[in-house]
Amino acid sequence: MDEKPDIYRRELVDVQGVPLFWSIAEEWSQVESFEARPDDLLISTYPKSGTTWVSEILDLIYNNGDAEKCIELLKKMQPPRLVKTHLPVQLLPSSFWKNNCKMVYVARNAKDVAVSYYYFYQMAKIHPEAGTWEEFLDKFMTGKVAFGSWYDHVKGWWEKRNDYRIFYLFYEDMKEDPKHEIQKLLQFLEKDLSEETVDKILYHSSFNVMKQNPSTNYTTVPDFDMNHSVSPFMRKGISGDWKNQFTVAQYERFEKDYEKKMKGSTLRFRSEI
Ligand code: A3P
Repeated sequence: MDEKPDIYRRELVDVQGVPLFWSIAEEWSQVESFEARPDDLLISTYPKSGTTWVSEILDLIYNNGDAEKCIELLKKMQPPRLVKTHLPVQLLPSSFWKNNCKMVYVARNAKDVAVSYYYFYQMAKIHPEAGTWEEFLDKFMTGKVAFGSWYDHVKGWWEKRNDYRIFYLFYEDMKEDPKHEIQKLLQFLEKDLSEETVDKILYHSSFNVMKQNPSTNYTTVPDFDMNHSVSPFMRKGISGDWKNQFTVAQYERFEKDYEKKMKGSTLRFRSEI
């Protein structure tokens, strides 16, 4: 079967200075006027930072670790709704701020995000062509990828965290001690779950279990949209994979540029654990 070039690999569209998918840009007025409810929980991330992982954990928390129930409830969309976004802070529909919704922001170190994004660009055809790794890295560093600059995204949300109910979470901390991070999440959500339930959540949200779970590994998405033989959605799930991708020259250029872009921010990442 032929691909549909009209919907695949299209160039990104500028929305208020941020490159977005054409499909979002076309519906922008609807996005802007999205009516958040006070009990909505927002999960916000730059792409490839652990969105699916933390969404699964939150889903399990709201269903007391019962993986079966999660699937049933998803169909019925029971409140509280878990709303996911990759939008930079300045583009978030204002109703989320007005309603003072709780928000969980997940951040991951830039080099691992760039690598993960490069493989995702290739497997998910909603993106423009990735080009070579060298070319993609350039696009990443200049913010010419879907949802714009990683640097602006992580800093923008970081700056808002003290003024709103934002729980700022790091992928690397989750890798290092998922139980501790889940417990912190529970506190933020004012939820009290038994040790046994927390252990169930840990089990169901582990990389290997999620990789086998069709409701989290994206294998139910048609091949045309996501080609898992190019790269699986649940790819490696580790910290520090950038070392297998960056040349020494790329690393040095990246670090120099990173320092400039992150200058003045108190935000600190670990690039390996
Ligand atoms: P890699 O490509 O480095 O493997 P997102 O959900 O924001 O698109 O992020 C996807 C990244 O998170 C992928 O990274 C994926 O493997 C990783 N990931 C998904 N579930 C995970 C889990 N349970 N534990 C660790 N990493 C996970």
